[in-house]
Amino acid sequence: MTHKYKNAEDSTIEISELMRPSCANFSGKVNGGYILNLMDQIAFACASKYSETYCVTASVDTVNFLKPIEVGELVTMKASINYVGKSSMVVGIRVEAQNIQTGIVKHCNSSYFTMVAKNDDGKSVSVPGLILSSESQIRRFLETIKRIEIKHKWKKEFDEDKFVLDAKHIKVLESYNVQVNI
Ligand SMILES: CC(C)(COP(=O)(O)OP(=O)(O)OC[C@H]1O[C@@H](n2cnc3c(N)ncnc32)[C@H](O)[C@@H]1OP(=O)(O)O)[C@@H](O)C(=O)NCCC(=O)NCCS
Repeated sequence: MTHKYKNAEDSTIEISELMRPSCANFSGKVNGGYILNLMDQIAFACASKYSETYCVTASVDTVNFLKPIEVGELVTMKASINYVGKSSMVVGIRVEAQNIQTGIVKHCNSSYFTMVAKNDDGKSVSVPGLILSSESQIRRFLETIKRIEIKHKWKKEFDEDKFVLDAKHIKVLESYNVQVNI
């Protein structure tokens, strides 16, 4: 069988939801956890649509809540595939909130969910290759390669079985708000 390639557009998903008072925390702003739940659902839908299999969330990177979301605002989430590995896919999600009365749209959050395609036995399965057909798609793919590289480096450096504490680590801590008592 020849390897299949797909366009990122084939997986693009957009959802909109009006924020109800039940989505809010005690300060009246929408709960971060509620937004994360919606993001996980859209990431699942996007990755499953692209891979044509059910997927699981392997990791979530850089969830920065840039601006608060108010009750009554219309939240729109757009998701598309930024990167594919063998069985993994990185779904980029952009979250915007619109004030219904003024029409003003604010960018509230962008983040990256790594999803892994699974078969019925729970085994990871290959996903289609990604056709990169614009400069921004190439940029996002390269950016993801870099993010994965940095994550691997960081994981290696702080692996709990291999980490060896030395004087240089203690020196770094001198400029932080800690007292080292060992
Ligand atoms: C994520 C998971 C599927 C990885 O399984 P695994 O047996 O380690 O699979 P593999 O080592 O074969 O890795 C499969 C792919 O996942 C990627 N992967 C595994 N762990 C990852 C992580 N923490 N972050 C990003 N990617 C990850 C691998 O790089 C690999 O990518 P590739 O196939 O594109 O090269 C597995 O750990 C799992 O099922 N976790 C629980 C998922 C879940 O329940 N999510 C909901 C939480 S409530």
